[in-house]
Amino acid sequence: PHAPSADAPAGCPAAAPAPELFTWEFAADPYPAYAWLREHAPVHRTELPSGVEAWLVTRYTEARQALADGRLSKNPVHHSEAAHGKGKVGIPGERSANLMTHLLNIDPPDHTRLRRLVSKAFTPRRVAAFAPRVQELTDHLIDQFAAKGEADLIHEFAFPLPIYAICDLLGVPREDQDDFRDWAGMMIRHGGGPRGGVARSVKKMRGYLAELIHRKRESLGDTAEPDEDLISGLIRASDHGEHLTENEAAAMAFILLFAGFETTVNLIGNGIFALLRHPAQRELLQKSLAAGDTELLTTGIEELLRYDGPVELATWRFATEELTLAGQRIAKGDPVLVVLAAADRDPARFDEPDVLDLTRRDNQHLGYGHGIHYCLGAPLARLEGQAALATLLSRLPDIRLAAEPDDLRWRGGLIMRGLRSLPVEFGPE
Ligand code: HEM
Repeated sequence: PHAPSADAPAGCPAAAPAPELFTWEFAADPYPAYAWLREHAPVHRTELPSGVEAWLVTRYTEARQALADGRLSKNPVHHSEAAHGKGKVGIPGERSANLMTHLLNIDPPDHTRLRRLVSKAFTPRRVAAFAPRVQELTDHLIDQFAAKGEADLIHEFAFPLPIYAICDLLGVPREDQDDFRDWAGMMIRHGGGPRGGVARSVKKMRGYLAELIHRKRESLGDTAEPDEDLISGLIRASDHGEHLTENEAAAMAFILLFAGFETTVNLIGNGIFALLRHPAQRELLQKSLAAGDTELLTTGIEELLRYDGPVELATWRFATEELTLAGQRIAKGDPVLVVLAAADRDPARFDEPDVLDLTRRDNQHLGYGHGIHYCLGAPLARLEGQAALATLLSRLPDIRLAAEPDDLRWRGGLIMRGLRSLPVEFGPE
């Protein structure tokens, strides 16, 4: 609708000033800015806090299209700035080593091969069999604070649950899991940028996983009944006689941890926060849980993902050739970030997108991505999210916020959206 003036930056209409992005205010509530972008500049070029320039894609139709577009590569070698050493697009603290060759950084045919192999080990059946352990972990964590009458749900609940769960699933021995908790804590606290502590934590995690994989591989041949954990499954998985190398298995274990940890922390944190701010919806859910009905829990988790999901921006993509998206020319090598949080509030796709409606059925949200990189861990995330919310609301039925919503701080990372802390109070159990 607005003709760009000669001196306006590309993709940015001249008539209305673009909202300021990546400020603290934006981190607390990015949705008004995304609404503006969807309407005025659906493919918008902006400078990210790291100094890298990228295109933000905010409408549902183009977001879905971009996620499945083979011309948008996941491999950072296609980044136009990578060659000049400016490309700050990796996992903090992990630039060069083998761990970077993982699913979210590669394209077909390598991606197809690795995804097929991991899918043989990380099956829905394995996840379903893990349900009793997730319930046990959930109850154990709530036991620790139930008598206190107050808790910080991020630190005492949402943060430890996924890290212990993924460690158990991978086969990290219980006595080593607190190390993982510490390393992961360092990564989540400083995830916004490369710092010494993060680099050290990633290095330690990587060293540990490499050794664990090596040990499990050595011992696999020794026993008639090999371990049933996911790392053993990864080592044994074969496709047309092909196996993962030790390096590939280590990178895979690392990406499962990395992709499955902070996301789930935020699913639980953002989800509980949204419910505590929507008493009628929360009451509806509590009533249905008390009646032993899980249907609303199932649709409700999807709605919480759509309404305020953990992954605000999908991970990086780079144009391998010049292309046009929503009328906007994107040059070869340009980074493209698909804003899942904006697409999932697009009124062209969702009725009353800013309303939280746990009963919503027409809900093909992009919270887990779309296309060949669609979240591999979605069944596990659903399992953890459902156990966490249902158990918390059932065991602490009068749980309420112990702070003004506006006083809560959000972590300012680029990709993820999540709270730093979530203080609550409740009648002691
Ligand atoms: C990919 C979201 C939990 C493992 C993705 C993508 C999204 C996503 C949006 C696609 C990224 C892109 O295309 O750029 C989420 C959310 C979760 C969650 C919202 C929690 C609520 C998990 C868990 C695991 C996991 C628990 C594993 C333990 C992965 C992996 C990929 C992925 C391995 C890469 C798949 C590929 O490239 O083929 N996830 N995720 N995620 N996720 Fe999740």
